[in-house]
Amino acid sequence: MRTALNDLLGIEAPLVGFNRSPGVVAEVSRAGGLGVLAATAYTPAELDAQLTWIERQVQGRPYGVDLLVPGKKAAGDPRDLVASLRAQIPDEHVRFVEGLLERYDIPPASRPPTSNGELAVNLDPSGVPALLDVVFAHPIALVANALGTPPPTLVDRGHAAGVVVASLVGKPEHAVRQLDAGVDLLVAQGTEAGGHTGTIATMILTPEIVDIAGDVPVLAAGGIASGRQMAAALALGAAGVWCGSVWLSTHEDITPLSVKRKFLAATSSDTLRSPLRTGKPARQLRSAWHDEWERPGSPAPLPMPLQPMLIGEAWERIDEAADRGHPGATALESFFIGQVVGAFAELRPAAEVAGRIIDDCARRLRELGTLGG
Ligand SMILES: Cc1cc2nc3c(=O)[nH]c(=O)nc-3n(C[C@H](O)[C@H](O)[C@H](O)COP(=O)(O)O)c2cc1C
Repeated sequence: MRTALNDLLGIEAPLVGFNRSPGVVAEVSRAGGLGVLAATAYTPAELDAQLTWIERQVQGRPYGVDLLVPGKKAAGDPRDLVASLRAQIPDEHVRFVEGLLERYDIPPASRPPTSNGELAVNLDPSGVPALLDVVFAHPIALVANALGTPPPTLVDRGHAAGVVVASLVGKPEHAVRQLDAGVDLLVAQGTEAGGHTGTIATMILTPEIVDIAGDVPVLAAGGIASGRQMAAALALGAAGVWCGSVWLSTHEDITPLSVKRKFLAATSSDTLRSPLRTGKPARQLRSAWHDEWERPGSPAPLPMPLQPMLIGEAWERIDEAADRGHPGATALESFFIGQVVGAFAELRPAAEVAGRIIDDCARRLRELGTLGG
C-alpha cells in the first residue's frame, strides 16, 4: 500500500497510531506505520525519557510526537502561572467536586496527588519552548499540534530540522489557517473521534479538507479502527489514516484496566462530546460523572486549563478506587474514547491490531478493485 504519506514519512503503510503510551507508539512504528506519542501529560524530563525508550525499540524506524497548544484558553500570570490559574477556580466548583466524591464514597488516594501544574504549563504557550527543546533533540519524523494553529516557533523549528509538521483540523476554516501557517500535513478529524473533536463527521470532513489542501497530504481521523474503515478513508482521498481510540483496546496502552473493561462493554452510543473533562468539547465515555455535572444546579465546567486542574486529583482517586472494584468509582469511571469503542471485543497486542488494520485494508482495496469493472 503506497500513498504520498509513505515517502513523506519513510513508512511502509499509511497508518499513524496516536497514543500516550510509549509501548503502543513503538509497536505501531515497528509494524510499518508511524507511532505518535502524545506529549501533553509529560514533563520535559519525562518526555525525554519516553522518547529515548521509544528510539531503542524502533531502531531507526520513524516515529512522531503530538503537542496540544490551544488557541483559546484561560490566561494566567506568566510570573506565577500555576498559582494564578489556581486562584481563578471558584470555591463553588471545589465544593461541588468534593461533594460528588463524598456522595460516591470515593476514598482518599493512597499516594500524594500528582500536581496538575505540569499540564497547565504544557498547555500554555510559555511552556512550549521547553517541550520543543526536548522534542527536537530527538530524531523525530513528525510533530503534530491540536486545538489551534501551531505556534510559529513549532513550524519554524520543525522545518529547520527537516521534521514534518502536522495539524489536526475539525472544519474547513481551520484547514485554511493551518495551510497559511505552513503545515506539511493535515489531519481531518471527524466528530466520531475520541478526545477533542468538532461536530462534522469524518465522511463529510475528509473530502472537504482534501479539496482545500491541494498538494498537502491529508490524513483521515475519527472512527477508523479497521481495514474496512481505512480503505474507506483512502477512497475519500486521504493519503492515510490517523487512529487514536483503537489503541486503547491494546495491552500496551497505559489506561487503567478498570477503564478498558468499561470500554469493552460499551456500545457506539455510549460516548458523548462534552467539556466536562478538559473545559473544551472532547469525546469520552458517558458515566455517572456526566450525569452528576448535568443535573440542574450543578456548576458549569470551567475553561481549559482550569477544569482539568480542578478535577485532576478527583480522577486520580476515582481511577485508584475503580481499579480495586469500588462500585461508586466504577460508576463514575470514564476516559476519552471515540464511537469506535462499540467495536472493541477484547484486549490485543498493539502489533496485532496494527498488522490486522494494514492487511485488511490491502485486501479490501484489492476486492474493491475487482468491483470497478
Ligand atoms: C484517549 C485519547 C486522547 C487524545 N488526546 C489527544 C491529544 O492530546 N492531542 C491530540 O492531538 N489528539 C488527541 N486525541 C485525538 C487523536 O489524536 C485522534 O485524532 C483521534 O483519536 C482519532 O479518532 P478515533 O479516536 O476515532 O481513532 C485523543 C484521542 C483519544 C482517544
